[in-house]
Amino acid sequence: MDYKASLASLLSPIVQLDAAEILPFIESPPDPAMGHFAFPCFRLAKTLKKAPPVIAQDVAEAVTMTALVLNEYHWIDRAVATGPYVNFFLREAAFMDDTLRAVLAAGADYGKPAPAIQSAHAAQKILIEYSSPNIAKHFHPGHFANTVIGNALVRIYRHLGYDVTSINHLGDFGTQFGKLIVAYQRWGSREEIERTEIDGLVKIYVKFHEEADHDPTLNDEARTWVVKMQDGNKEALELWQWFVTLSNRSFDRIYKRLDATFDRVRGESYYTDKLDAAVQTIRDKGILVESEGAQIVDLEAYNLPPCMILRSDGGTLYATRDIAAALDRHAEYNFDKCIYIIANEQNTYCAQWFKVMELMGFPWAQNLLHVTYGMYRFESGKMSTRRGDVIKMEELIDEAVEKTRLIIEEKNPNLPNKESVAEQVGLGALIFNRLYNSRIKDTVFNWQNMINFDGETGPYVQYCHARTCSVLDKAAEKGVLPAEFTDFDASHLTGNEAFNVARILYDYPQAIAEAADKNEPYLIARHLMALAQAFNAFYHHNIILTDAAHIQTARLALTAAVQSVLQNGMQLLAIHAPRAM
Ligand code: ARG
Repeated sequence: MDYKASLASLLSPIVQLDAAEILPFIESPPDPAMGHFAFPCFRLAKTLKKAPPVIAQDVAEAVTMTALVLNEYHWIDRAVATGPYVNFFLREAAFMDDTLRAVLAAGADYGKPAPAIQSAHAAQKILIEYSSPNIAKHFHPGHFANTVIGNALVRIYRHLGYDVTSINHLGDFGTQFGKLIVAYQRWGSREEIERTEIDGLVKIYVKFHEEADHDPTLNDEARTWVVKMQDGNKEALELWQWFVTLSNRSFDRIYKRLDATFDRVRGESYYTDKLDAAVQTIRDKGILVESEGAQIVDLEAYNLPPCMILRSDGGTLYATRDIAAALDRHAEYNFDKCIYIIANEQNTYCAQWFKVMELMGFPWAQNLLHVTYGMYRFESGKMSTRRGDVIKMEELIDEAVEKTRLIIEEKNPNLPNKESVAEQVGLGALIFNRLYNSRIKDTVFNWQNMINFDGETGPYVQYCHARTCSVLDKAAEKGVLPAEFTDFDASHLTGNEAFNVARILYDYPQAIAEAADKNEPYLIARHLMALAQAFNAFYHHNIILTDAAHIQTARLALTAAVQSVLQNGMQLLAIHAPRAM
């Protein structure tokens, strides 16, 4: 039952607006004492030429009258005007009955839109580019942020029925590979680098820079290797391929732990043979101009620095490759939306090349979407990338898992599969921490705030889920099985706590839709936190397993609904939901 939609059609003739216009204004007040739904009347003052509180009064009376006469609105208990708001109070048992039944019947599908909307979504092609670390460089916390945001968005869009293709745009192109080849040939040990992977590559890369400081011929040598790579020299390409393979080996370990997958892994180099055509297209549009020997697109009129397309030596740039990639993706997928998850440090950069796409006159340029995100901040300040001493994400993950293992060791030493639960909860802590606030905000990295089982953390939500599982398992031991829960009678659910749980369950589909709309997974993380808190309050106020069979069935139905939504919500954020911890 879509209460908001129903209220909108009830209000429509009363306030003389289309139901569709009313719908977005119907709110769920945070405090149920203010009503279960509310409709603000400010907007109507102009057309109805009355003060909003007067309108609210009239509307409330009309609604109450209609609900009395029309049986389809029997679930409305009363409508009350409070200042400029009309507050709607529902018959709580009817609302809880309806909501719990919907959750239990839909299971993992709860939160998906109606079939007609799903089919409309299925016809929409969404590309989501995410993660995109750089070959021969460490996967750092910024890439972690990118990966968990992207992974969540892929899952959210898929849940809503969209046709999603995920792409990993690896940084595998550039002059640094010439330097790496030189460094490897002079100081590298194949065996050591095979073993140490990115560490080994970073080590010789740093050495290259130290040496090149007093031997500039090294740079010339590196440049000749870059040219050789461009000319398809076998030795150069084999070495480059080896760097790529080694780096991917360590990235893949992280992706496996994060449950992140990609439909396409297409590094920047994938577009190499498409660069000339892309540059030609820009030139044909007449926006390419020469500046100090380089080819640029002037963006002064848009308050942006110029976008360089070709260096004076003819070399291409990061932007050239992004433009070529966008053209290629559009030709291949004819996408409805192409999402780029890229750090806020590159906001200007994205604005520049998006503007170039627009100036090229492609109407679809407006379907390119930069989904930006803030940095991690560590107690010691911004993570350093200068001297190659970046914080390695793999080590942070290991540390999170180890810290979690110690907590489990202390709290629940007899837990089976302690190691794998520690992995799931340690990662849950890291992921939830990043997804709990708007992606645009910086994330302060603090172990205590992240892992605390009692705080606003992933482990708290996971723990609540494990609690629901434990209650359901105990019921099963008593012989009460899920099939019986559907016989529940919601009038046995009394108290604000139960109603509050149902209200949050009811709003869950909307949270998912909004998360996709704003590309903000935190809306789901916040919702799960609210649900976990509400369930814990319910749990502390009510004995679920009791001898009063009807009461027990109703409370178990609510518990099962919470279990299902917590599990599925965490799944959308790529957080595991262990049954015990
Ligand atoms: N590899 C880049 C980095 O680590 C991010 C790439 C973002 N995507 C893009 N299409 N430019 O900073």
